[in-house]
Amino acid sequence: MLRKLIAGNWKMNGLRHSLDQVSSLMQKVGKAPKADILICPPALLLMEMARMTKDSPIMVGGQDCHWKESGAHTGEISAQMLANAGASHVIVGHSERRADCGENSKTVRHKAEAALAAGLIPIICVGETLAQREAGEAASVVRDQVEQSMPTQSKGEIVIAYEPVWAIGTGKVASAADIAEIHALLREQVGPGIRLLYGGSVKPGNAAEILHIENVDGALVGGASLTAEDFFGIIENA
Ligand code: 13P
Repeated sequence: MLRKLIAGNWKMNGLRHSLDQVSSLMQKVGKAPKADILICPPALLLMEMARMTKDSPIMVGGQDCHWKESGAHTGEISAQMLANAGASHVIVGHSERRADCGENSKTVRHKAEAALAAGLIPIICVGETLAQREAGEAASVVRDQVEQSMPTQSKGEIVIAYEPVWAIGTGKVASAADIAEIHALLREQVGPGIRLLYGGSVKPGNAAEILHIENVDGALVGGASLTAEDFFGIIENA
């Protein structure tokens, strides 16, 4: 069994005072937590968070990166910059970026390749919309996204996060049977070594059930990662 990874995605939330939550989380988790722990804060907080957590088991990651190493791309952040700031991971292809910024699986693949080239672990997000699920297309949508978003020559660790779009920030969690079904298909598709996270309204109260489903190797947590109390409540259930 793969060691679980509990990853927090702060999205566009967090000011300098939010780093207090990280101090508090460090105290709660101690030196030997039950799972690997990652926080992906807004880019502006990343360097300070990496400095704070340097001697703790908490890792820090980016929420997105550009596919190019450097150059004329105003406002963008490269994978190399994230690594240089102390990141170990980067989320790519989050559904909010696929929707808000028109990212497609090809772009996501280039980003994942850039992440690997910079020595980062990409967390590649996939997931169907409600309309796609209702049309019976969930499995095929997810399979196609994985196929097209995965780096072609993968050297280095990769993580995949299954986040049904309709379960993100809605309080609606996919049923255990639906999660088990998609994760089994993903396992078949990508093989045994890749961690498969579930994301979408994971909270302390439902974490135990979700994290014990077969082929679920961790969680990608949005809202409940913003406070040390809730995030630790999830970590404890790993
Ligand atoms: P919520 O946990 O807020 O539903 O967000 C999930 C998510 O999108 C994590 O990337």
